[in-house]
Amino acid sequence: MAGTGMNGRIEPNGDTQTPNGTGSINGHSGLYCAGERNGHMGPSTNGACPEKAVKQMRGLSPSMNKFLHDVFDTVLEDVLKKSASAGSKVIDFLPPAELSKRIDLELRDDPEPHESLLDHCKKTIQHSVKTGHPMFLNQLYQGMDPYGLAGQFVSDSLNTNLHTYEAAPVFVLMEQEVVRKVCSLIGWPAGDGLMGAGGSMLNMFGINLARHKYFPDMKKTGMHGGPRLVLLTSAESHYSMTKGAGFLGIGTDNVIKVKCDERGQMLPEELDKAIEDAKAQGSVPFFVNATSGTTVTGGYDPLGAIADVCQKHRLWLHVDAAWGGSVLTSRKHRGLMAGVERADSLLWNPHKMLSLPLQCSVFVTREQGPLKAAHASGATYLFQADKISYDASYDVGDKSIQCGRKTDPMKLWLSWKAHGTRGFEKHVDYVFELAQYLHDKLINRKGFKMVLPGPNCTNVCFWYVPPSLQGMPEGPEFTKKLDQVAPVIKDRMTKKGNMMVQYQPLEGVPNFFRLVLANTETTRQDLDFFVEEIERLGADL
Ligand SMILES: Cc1ncc(COP(=O)(O)O)c(C=O)c1O
Repeated sequence: MAGTGMNGRIEPNGDTQTPNGTGSINGHSGLYCAGERNGHMGPSTNGACPEKAVKQMRGLSPSMNKFLHDVFDTVLEDVLKKSASAGSKVIDFLPPAELSKRIDLELRDDPEPHESLLDHCKKTIQHSVKTGHPMFLNQLYQGMDPYGLAGQFVSDSLNTNLHTYEAAPVFVLMEQEVVRKVCSLIGWPAGDGLMGAGGSMLNMFGINLARHKYFPDMKKTGMHGGPRLVLLTSAESHYSMTKGAGFLGIGTDNVIKVKCDERGQMLPEELDKAIEDAKAQGSVPFFVNATSGTTVTGGYDPLGAIADVCQKHRLWLHVDAAWGGSVLTSRKHRGLMAGVERADSLLWNPHKMLSLPLQCSVFVTREQGPLKAAHASGATYLFQADKISYDASYDVGDKSIQCGRKTDPMKLWLSWKAHGTRGFEKHVDYVFELAQYLHDKLINRKGFKMVLPGPNCTNVCFWYVPPSLQGMPEGPEFTKKLDQVAPVIKDRMTKKGNMMVQYQPLEGVPNFFRLVLANTETTRQDLDFFVEEIERLGADL
């Protein structure tokens, strides 16, 4: 029998009477009026809605309790344990048509029982990519920090909103502490910041803050009639810069891509020249993005020299440290970001190299004030300045352009508590060592050719040259054939499901593999297997 919830929702079938006699039906938490069990909405038919009975029925019913335990057990067993075990699949891949048959996707008018819901969860896990698997080497997010996951569970279960202190008191204070700690790693004594909906979004915050600094009226009047603003970023920077320029009305044509060296690092003299050229053409440069850890090749732009150029031209310097920013925790590698303290703003994604659950993105500014100045709109229903129980400056929501903002600080805060900065450092140093190990192995191995002179960050970019091409002189024919190798190996690898690595072309060079390391579960033996498996998959090509 189906019941109807407080909001008129129909609940899944299940027990109609709970053992504790609360009357919670159908395995749900039971916010029902008696009359609603038979499908009525609103007050019961035998009189007024019995408020007392409703109150007695709050809380998890036994069957809902069991369902949640079953789901958690499945997550622990099938995601966390299995993903980390050798021999398990990274992906059980099915093409869309077959996958749609395997999973009962149709949403119906009638409820389904818990067994069926649990089965949907299991199949979802089975056919999803296990990004915590040691052989998932495909993307910049890898692994799963259990403390981060615990922080995510707790904050998701509380289901509140990081806009006001009254709605999220603990998370507001945690965010302040996370921001303070990140600023101190950068070397800023009194910065500001927030967490938000991913790196791309927060890179846009950098652009918007810069525009607001130089053209504060544009927040109100828009860009109509203003000068042609241009922003500068390296040719290897993330595409969120171009997206941001489009989204914010700067215009994608007004993104100037600055040349890089052979390691994918922006050339400061080229930046200076590009700024001079733009000015000579009557444009107004206002923002420079430097990347610490480019997406494909892992390049770290030289921040000190770029800061000199920005200082000379009085431009806002933003650092996109989404991928490579974790080196700030490492005494061995933080030199890659020397000069970072001279930036105006910075974005870092601990959900990448530190294995925290997506999304975990921190945006910080050197000074207090720009975030609120650029973004605030002062909604009076939330941000009343005359609140009595606390100082309204703790209502942090107006620093963001989001109203509803996830309580992300807890996962980072709990993980930081659990590992300490020294634990993060060990993680970073380990994955850097792995990258060096793989690079050293590949340069000495027949059939492998490096794209870059050494690992950059933990990105290892290489071609596999199969036996049939190994004696062939390099030239257009060789390049054409080599371009076809990575897609075929990738296809075979996906079907087998035992490892995942990404391939892509880059301007002027054929498709190559980009392997990235961020998971401390990955070992040197895993990388040995990876290399041999590439050889096996490409042996007949
Ligand atoms: C360098 C860099 N910046 C920004 C981003 C965007 O971050 P997000 O995926 O959180 O939007 C990425 C994503 O891979 C990146 O590599």
